[in-house]
Amino acid sequence: MEFDLIVIGAGPGGYTAAIKAAQLGMKTAIVEKDETLGGTCLKVGCIPSKALLTSTELYYGARRHFGAHGISADGLSMDVGAMMKRKDGVVRKMARGIDYLMNKNGIERVVGLGRIARPNEVEVISDTGQQCLKAKRILIATGSRVAGLPFLEFDGETVLSSDDTVALSQAPESMVVIGAGAIGLELGSVWARLGTAVTVVEFLPRIASTFDEDITQALQKLLQRQGLKFHLGTYVESAEKTEGGVKLTAAKGDKKLEFEAEKLLVAVGRKPNTEGLGTAEAGVELDERGCIKIDVEWQTSVSGIYAIGDVVAGPMLAHKAEQEAIAAVECMVGQPGSVNYDAIPWVIYTSPEVATVGLTEAEAVEKGHEVGVGVFPFQANGRAVASGHADGLAKVIADKATGLVLGAQILSANASELIAEVVLLMELGGSARDMARTIHAHPTMSEGLREAAHAATGEPLHI
Ligand code: FAD
Ligand code: NAI
Repeated sequence: MEFDLIVIGAGPGGYTAAIKAAQLGMKTAIVEKDETLGGTCLKVGCIPSKALLTSTELYYGARRHFGAHGISADGLSMDVGAMMKRKDGVVRKMARGIDYLMNKNGIERVVGLGRIARPNEVEVISDTGQQCLKAKRILIATGSRVAGLPFLEFDGETVLSSDDTVALSQAPESMVVIGAGAIGLELGSVWARLGTAVTVVEFLPRIASTFDEDITQALQKLLQRQGLKFHLGTYVESAEKTEGGVKLTAAKGDKKLEFEAEKLLVAVGRKPNTEGLGTAEAGVELDERGCIKIDVEWQTSVSGIYAIGDVVAGPMLAHKAEQEAIAAVECMVGQPGSVNYDAIPWVIYTSPEVATVGLTEAEAVEKGHEVGVGVFPFQANGRAVASGHADGLAKVIADKATGLVLGAQILSANASELIAEVVLLMELGGSARDMARTIHAHPTMSEGLREAAHAATGEPLHI
């Protein structure tokens, strides 16, 4: 059987591409090595982590904040097993949704490990044997996997990856997290809220380094209040397993530090999945970081072979993979597929959440913009104060000459939802004045963003 398109990998990039291709009339197959579709995002990433963040935020909120509302939470307890069961149920439900979409769109599902045998042939190896599928085009969407430390192997028991940390059966007494990026902060928060003594070690001088410093400093203070400890500018040099867990040696300037904990979460980034794919034999070139090289139509160095998502350069985000999937498939059929890489939102789901889009203030200045920056603290927003979510701030960065919004950052409850307004504004080429003059319902947190836009135009209102 010959297909118009074979997609290798069924994460958010791969399954979205398959759906779009089928909708555009292409006879499509999707090859996935796991029985369950959904990729990193659904099985061990975005969705399970958010299920755990929700459960633990409720528990932590009940313990710490219910009293202020006059609600007694005496006798409160947390059943980690039940929390994990709920998370697994969420994953199963979403996976059924993807199965449904594959069937609805007439996409051929093939279970097994895919390898490019020739530019128009994919070899699939599974428990039941080997088969060869032919296609006019191939799309590589094999995603990424956890990167480790050169001197320490994951063992799933003491030295944990994020895959292990979203499936622990109980809250450990103590945990050291290496890396204060998205995973370190999200999963560190999950376990800290359940009573684990969490210490985060990061070699950069600040946490969440994709955000401006005023935002990350405020975030760090709030996380410290929740019990997380940070050692910044600290480089982990070696580690050994001990009877009770793990011991790390790190350097902070001239000082040597030692950390001991029951568990270690290594959250130092992810690497693209290209091993065993047959890229070298097929002539598909990789860049110096091991990502598959692509052109403006997401086509690799081999005509007819495309690549998207975590396996290509750029932020490793599910929504980036999805958008590339749609655009790449559109390009295959001669439509003008495109992705606006300047307007990709990025959220870290701590409490409060922190969200960004576009340029940070530092990046805008570095690029030579004269910037108008508006900052609004949620302490001055009625809805935020009434809801007990007054920690945090909204920041809008605009170009002074044109007024165009260059970026925004939000530290607040539901920042993940609030940022969408700025993404749309930037997509439509809007200005800070457009945002400031757009009517926002009262009382809402979104008014805080509008106030930041007012301030960015040089006409602050309620500050
Ligand atoms: P993947 O989701 O990695 O999917 C690739 C698929 O290909 C996998 O199913 C894999 O089994 C399959 N595969 C690989 N090789 C082969 C082969 N040879 N043959 C057949 N199948 C193969 N992103 C966000 O946007 N928001 C979040 O909140 C978020 N949270 C995250 C939390 C965690 C803990 C982690 C680890 C990641 C998170 N991410 C988040 C990142 C997000 O999961 C990835 O960016 C996204 O999954 C990338 O999608 P993808 O389709 O490129 O690859
Ligand atoms: P990351 O790249 O976001 O952060 C890794 C951190 O580890 C960096 O701050 C880095 O400076 C630090 N680090 C690296 N080596 C170190 C060492 N030896 N000692 C001390 N610190 C060290 O990577 P992370 O958190 O593992 O996440 C991987 C990717 O998954 C992210 O880049 C993101 O794309 C995606 N993700 C997205 C989420 C979201 O959108 N909410 C949530 C979780 C993951």
